[in-house]
Amino acid sequence: MIIRSVMTGVGSYLPQNVVSNAELSKRVDTTDEWITERTGIKQRHIAAEGQFTSHLAIEAGRAAMAMAGMTPDKLDMLIVATTTPDNTFPATAAKVQAAIGRPGIPAFDVQAVCSGWIYALATADNFIKAGQVKSALVIGAETLSRFLDWTDRSSCVLFGDGAGAVVLQAAQGQGTSADRGVLSTHLHSDGRYFDILQADGGVSTTQTTGLLRMKGKEVFRHAVVNLAETAREAVDANGVTFADVDWLVPHQANSRILDSTAEKLGISPDKVIITVDKHANTSAASIPLALNQGVKDGRIKPGQLLLMETMGGGFTWGSALVRF
Ligand code: COA
Repeated sequence: MIIRSVMTGVGSYLPQNVVSNAELSKRVDTTDEWITERTGIKQRHIAAEGQFTSHLAIEAGRAAMAMAGMTPDKLDMLIVATTTPDNTFPATAAKVQAAIGRPGIPAFDVQAVCSGWIYALATADNFIKAGQVKSALVIGAETLSRFLDWTDRSSCVLFGDGAGAVVLQAAQGQGTSADRGVLSTHLHSDGRYFDILQADGGVSTTQTTGLLRMKGKEVFRHAVVNLAETAREAVDANGVTFADVDWLVPHQANSRILDSTAEKLGISPDKVIITVDKHANTSAASIPLALNQGVKDGRIKPGQLLLMETMGGGFTWGSALVRF
């Protein structure tokens, strides 16, 4: 018998303000046609003035806890994956913890850009497997719209705001791929590519947050290779094949990356949860947002095998195989 981290609740929150490509093209030199053809994105949610990453995270976290039927006193750990924290410090997780009403438990942020939520999931899973905590709330929350360069049409059209969350709870498993819960996580990074996708500022360098800068073609090139590799190691580690996967729940950056990765893996497009058309790229929030969508619309069912994969600034990339 081994300990598994079972996903017992999922939740999300998206800001009310939806900006379509057509609306965006009124203030950015772009067209709906270009954005749709190159990225599959049709719209994005943008946080309102005074609405912060913590606000989105709190709503998503509460929704996940409600689905799990979990009261705050049963929560042992809280992690927020974000690149767009409310403050430079303390962690956004501190504000979320106060709002959720569970003082005393460990609460911290994880920063691995678009891979942040998979990094946070791996962290929480390992604390649970080690027996140090019995439950964790793992949130991905972003207000990327706040540090986009709205004069750079090659990047600003790609991103959106939102939050997604998952409750993990310890349960006994047999140690096989038939167990419910997180079966394995796989994390990677390569800092040699630091400047291909970065904010051009920070506390220690410019004393500003900087703006998002991206060499899109190079990101694309690395993404298709790294995503396929990390997806493969997840199925190999568990002695299953891509044919056993019920749903691919990928990071939502670009529909062309999603399509070409699914094709490389031999996973049929109707087994891929896609939200990039409605949410754009919400960085650390995108996988839990997609997971929530699939669960709430009834496609993802308990017992099904989910493959999650991601790639982001750093570069960072990784995957998780989960039996829901
Ligand atoms: N609207 C209209 N035209 C645009 C545009 C926009 N929003 N953005 C760029 N263009 C133009 C460019 O100026 C260029 O014009 P030119 O040929 O006259 O110079 C042309 O479109 C092609 O630009 P290019 O950058 O070569 O396009 P691309 O095919 O590489 O597509 C991305 C750009 C960003 C969509 C693509 O590189 C991509 O998706 N990369 C991955 C990004 C990503 O997923 N990042 C997050 C990872 S977590």
